[in-house]
Amino acid sequence: TELLLRGRILTFHDEPLAGETSPEAFIYLEDGALLVRDGKVVALDDYARLRGGEGRNVEVIDHHPHLIMPGFIDTHIHYPQMQVVGSYAGALMEWLNKYTFVEEQKFSNQGHPERIASALFDELIRHGTTTAAAYCSVHKASVQAFFTEAHRRNMRMIAGKVMMDRNAPPSLLDTAQSGYDDSKALIDEWHGKGRQLYAITPRFAPTSTPEQLEMSGTLVREHPELHVQTHLCENNAEIAFVAELFPWSRDYTHVYEHYGLLGPKTLLGHCIHLTDAEIGAIANSASVAVFCPTSNLFIGSGLFDLARLRASDPQVRTAIATDIGGGTSYSMLRTLDEGYKILNIQGQRYHPLRSFYQVTLGNARALSLEGNIGSFVLGAEADCVVLNARATPAMRIRMETVETLVEELFLMQTMGDDRTIAEVYVAGRAAKSTLTS
Ligand code: GUN
Ligand code: FE
Repeated sequence: TELLLRGRILTFHDEPLAGETSPEAFIYLEDGALLVRDGKVVALDDYARLRGGEGRNVEVIDHHPHLIMPGFIDTHIHYPQMQVVGSYAGALMEWLNKYTFVEEQKFSNQGHPERIASALFDELIRHGTTTAAAYCSVHKASVQAFFTEAHRRNMRMIAGKVMMDRNAPPSLLDTAQSGYDDSKALIDEWHGKGRQLYAITPRFAPTSTPEQLEMSGTLVREHPELHVQTHLCENNAEIAFVAELFPWSRDYTHVYEHYGLLGPKTLLGHCIHLTDAEIGAIANSASVAVFCPTSNLFIGSGLFDLARLRASDPQVRTAIATDIGGGTSYSMLRTLDEGYKILNIQGQRYHPLRSFYQVTLGNARALSLEGNIGSFVLGAEADCVVLNARATPAMRIRMETVETLVEELFLMQTMGDDRTIAEVYVAGRAAKSTLTS
């Protein structure tokens, strides 16, 4: 049987660099219809045109006056940090040592990873996020629990076992060899199973020995199709520590470059305090700089300078993410709002259409998954969010003065949260209204 989602529909096929005067960059249908078969998009058109094909076994769900968009994508999240969110700590290193590294040790406890994984996917769906790139803990079992739950829910997920073999509590350390062996076993078991994708995940340079980074590079050479995720230049003390640990390096980025960890599948969390040479290395390798606004404000790390990255190379690849539990919200709407404020305070106003492009097709492109997710092109996986701009009394009263789609988007970005997400579809199946907790 087929599913026909009717409503106002917005989907992008390119970045709307000039906002609403980039009509070629997006499709907006006032009375649109998205036809889904076997979890994939098979047609997108005005409802009046698509209904002509009815008479078959089609279930029609009308979401008017809500807005149907591709599901949101979070390109950097730590699932073992659900119980770290909102920890009262100072800067990065204190936050890591005092809270994060304590919490992540619990993932060796029987049943804990399963419980948190289940809670995580509930929370992602509640907030309209249908794909995430996730760090697990150092423990293999944390990855098993994550992928088992993602697979059960048929969600498109990217995740990997964190590798870390120094500068953390002993029970959180692997070794260069065990990190490699565990990653290998998890790749064999999970990469390409259903919608699951494995990411090679050295946590960041300070917690890996040269041997471990070497072995991470070996994994990348053996599996060039895999994503790589790590952290880069989030905090000045972190950068100074890397300079101490790798005295031969020109800069922090050079460490990753040296071990063969940069490239078009590499996601670099934060990228706040970069030199011009580092921006050049990121752009030349087609690596992705991941903006984590709520985390950067909460941990006090600094202001992501998108304009500077783009000025250095207009083709530089960027993404946006929550960075839970340094980040403070699971919502990509809240994330866009804080991101807007960070850019605005630097004189970089960002058009609302570009925001919604970013959390859909923009992030899909950053993950090299355009065509699979992030837009409603034919054959795309039918992950959708249904957005309600009148979700709260305050939004309802504000909506009385809203006249355009762009204003409505900006209102949802500024005032929205999980209540704004009226429904979520994962591969064509209703997922939010069917949550059990
Ligand atoms: N750098 C290394 N690990 C982490 C982490 O878990 N969160 C953040 N925000 N930065 C990191
Ligand atoms: Fe992070």
